[in-house]
Amino acid sequence: MPEEFVVPEEERVAKAVHSDAYFDLIRRLSHQSVVKHFDAYADIDWDNPEFRIDHDDSRWELEPDDVLGATAWYRAQPAGIRSRIGLRILANFMKIGVIFEYVLKRGLLDFASRLPSGSPEFRYCYHETIEEAQHSLMFQEFINRTGFNLPGLSGLECRCADFVVKYARKFPELFFVFVLAGEDPIDYVQRQSLRKNREDIHPLFRRIMQIHVTEEARHMSFARHALRMRVPALRGSRRWRLGLCVPLILGVMGKMMMEASPQIAREYKIPREVVDAAYRKNPIHGARIHEASTKLFGLCKELGLVNRWSLRLWKVMRILPEAGALVPAATR
Ligand SMILES: [Fe+2]
Ligand SMILES: [Fe+2]
Repeated sequence: MPEEFVVPEEERVAKAVHSDAYFDLIRRLSHQSVVKHFDAYADIDWDNPEFRIDHDDSRWELEPDDVLGATAWYRAQPAGIRSRIGLRILANFMKIGVIFEYVLKRGLLDFASRLPSGSPEFRYCYHETIEEAQHSLMFQEFINRTGFNLPGLSGLECRCADFVVKYARKFPELFFVFVLAGEDPIDYVQRQSLRKNREDIHPLFRRIMQIHVTEEARHMSFARHALRMRVPALRGSRRWRLGLCVPLILGVMGKMMMEASPQIAREYKIPREVVDAAYRKNPIHGARIHEASTKLFGLCKELGLVNRWSLRLWKVMRILPEAGALVPAATR
């Protein structure tokens, strides 16, 4: 990883995807996975004293432009509580990442197991699974070093995971929507953070984000183009169901990836009004959620998955991007 880190962009092919261009892209992504990949332990110097995690380190504090960090309640907390809340939120995002990637890996392997011999997608699914396994190792190691005791999956969460994995087999398009609904919001947050190029960002956290953003650019490119290839061939009722499911899945996942969990609010006794002021009633937070939804909404429009019924759900879930935020398809 060079000193001057440049946030990588996704690989793209022309808007109208045909199978040759699609498979060329998949081969290119597979090749990049060979020449530019990371190992959670070889590529992160965990025992470097600069990477040590201290609960009282002010670099964990939420920034003043963070929606919770900007509240008067947060700013009035003692410094040690401010840094703990910031670190606890990061640890929670990483735990969600581990769980999400667990489901993703199972779904990818299931999807790959049904591909015909010689399919370039088979190889890429395995590259992506290996990369996600490294991400989960890296996230879990970070959590371990924070000392927070975060539980594994509950029984209900396990059943939800099985449900999603089943759809990788029965309805791969829905599974790829799930992939983008999880990866787009977290990628948006990490890119914003890296672009700010803050001096006081903790070096361990910066390193983790750089590795993650670099490899996720490939994963999202694969999911987006897999949808472009597959959705046009979908029959009417499946296409209709898919259109309705996208805002529901993105609405739930975006909230999980961009807000402090209710568990954290309980642990730190964050008053309900403060949580509402930070998230639910905050136009700045609303605008960020809309921005994080822009890419997937644009893709849904391009694929004909937005109709008046699904549009209502985008509004109900409060993730409909501002009209002016949509970028032309050629630049996505
Ligand atoms: Fe990942
Ligand atoms: Fe990924």
